[in-house]
Amino acid sequence: MAERVKFLDTTLRDGEQSAGIGMTEDEKLEIARQLARLRVDIIEAGFAASSPGDFRAVTNIAKEVKGPVIASLSRAVANDVDQAWEAVRHAESPRIHVFLSSSDIQILHQLRKDREAVLGQAVEMVQRAKKYCSDVEFSPMDATRTTKEYLFQMLAAVIKAGATTINIADTVGYAIPSNFAMLVREIRETVPGVDKVTVSVHCHNDLGLAVSNSLAAIEAGARQVEGCINGIGERAGNAALEEIIMALDTRKDLFNVEMGVDTTQLYPTSRMVSRITGMAVQANKAVVGENAFRHASGIHQDGVLKNRATYEVMQPERVGVPSNRLVLGKLSGRAGLQSRLEALGYRLGREDLNKVFESFKVLADKKREVSDRDLEILMDEEHRAATEPISYHLDHIHFAGSDDDVATATVRLIGPDGQKFTDASVGNGPVDAVCKAIDRVIGSRVKLVDFNVQAATEGLDSIGTVVVRVEKNGQIYTGRGASTDIIVASAKAYLSAVNRALAAEEGAAAPAAGATP
Ligand code: KIV
Ligand code: ZN
Repeated sequence: MAERVKFLDTTLRDGEQSAGIGMTEDEKLEIARQLARLRVDIIEAGFAASSPGDFRAVTNIAKEVKGPVIASLSRAVANDVDQAWEAVRHAESPRIHVFLSSSDIQILHQLRKDREAVLGQAVEMVQRAKKYCSDVEFSPMDATRTTKEYLFQMLAAVIKAGATTINIADTVGYAIPSNFAMLVREIRETVPGVDKVTVSVHCHNDLGLAVSNSLAAIEAGARQVEGCINGIGERAGNAALEEIIMALDTRKDLFNVEMGVDTTQLYPTSRMVSRITGMAVQANKAVVGENAFRHASGIHQDGVLKNRATYEVMQPERVGVPSNRLVLGKLSGRAGLQSRLEALGYRLGREDLNKVFESFKVLADKKREVSDRDLEILMDEEHRAATEPISYHLDHIHFAGSDDDVATATVRLIGPDGQKFTDASVGNGPVDAVCKAIDRVIGSRVKLVDFNVQAATEGLDSIGTVVVRVEKNGQIYTGRGASTDIIVASAKAYLSAVNRALAAEEGAAAPAAGATP
């Protein structure tokens, strides 16, 4: 029988280390629930000791999400291990994931220790974790730049101390597939006790090789791979899980391994992670990009019309990309809307569906055709309206400008107690004027660090989505807004980010700080 490859998803931990990303506890829980639907084997829910927000996020996920193993990352220090256990102990199947640098460059220059001390520390902390939890993973950080002899010695020692998974971390994305496969093979052949544990790999994408390295490692016998949805993560990101999964699925003939994942949940998961993190998926991204199953050239279209296999190695339905045979517009009914929403990964009760149907009708009046992207944006807006910390609502907006860059804007906001506040400002263009008018009403002192506008679909009636990131007291807050009017979308996005900053200041719903090992 073919052996099983397990997937550890670290979107909520390493993924959150992407520059500029901050997810709320509720958003993390929402992603974790979707990862359970995708049926990944292990969810690395966070780094419990890194912040109170992360501790709460891991605890909530451990309590609520059934199916996958729930893991917390932990430095090889006693307090981290204790906190990791305190957070994951509620899970059906808990795991503590201990890591410690193994390369000389990190041992000498970052830890300022020597190899012997580090080896002792690794063993001691694996033993400590083992007292709490039978499932313990150990990662030698920067394993691919570690002297082999020392790496093997460390792996043997932590296995003896009780580690059940050893994770070969290509922390800085230095590995090359052929060498990486050789390293995994050598580990499997020479490290004492390795036959009793799972060999895992964790690859970063600094050289664009994270997925290739992961696949090479599987061919060499690794039976757990770690990665993030959409390949997000520290610096150039982690291995994109959807790409590894579909490579194994499509080339089963070569890899001959089993997986437990439901591949049809890949697209809904990718869309969810993109909208929650605000990190767009590039159109030509493998597996989940907008163009991944679109054929532009006449010859390709001709072939696909006759038989899709002529130019497609996998079918869009296999990764959950909905087929768009039914056009949604102002004449569509609830049933049509519900069926399309389900294909996009949304399951709504009758009451929620009725609410969404109202907003859908308003949008359909403005647009000839409502696309999947439009629906996702609409759902995102509904979701945020229901869950975001909102002190100020946008009630009315008026702006005027000319081509000499000077614009004026008036905004009316509804405040926490229902009072209405109106103010106006001039600015360097209408978006600037609108943001300044909002600042005048709220008295907010945030710094705009990123402003990103995207048209959701083609055509002049497209919905524009705006993502802004603002900084306050060293913390980044992301806000999103959508509208067929780009200035209104900008105002909503800016206000959403300011609302988040206000909530954090008041100590409510602060975004969990990204942990950076
Ligand atoms: O990249 C890395 O080394 C990590 C470890 C903590 C597993 O993320
Ligand atoms: Zn990593």
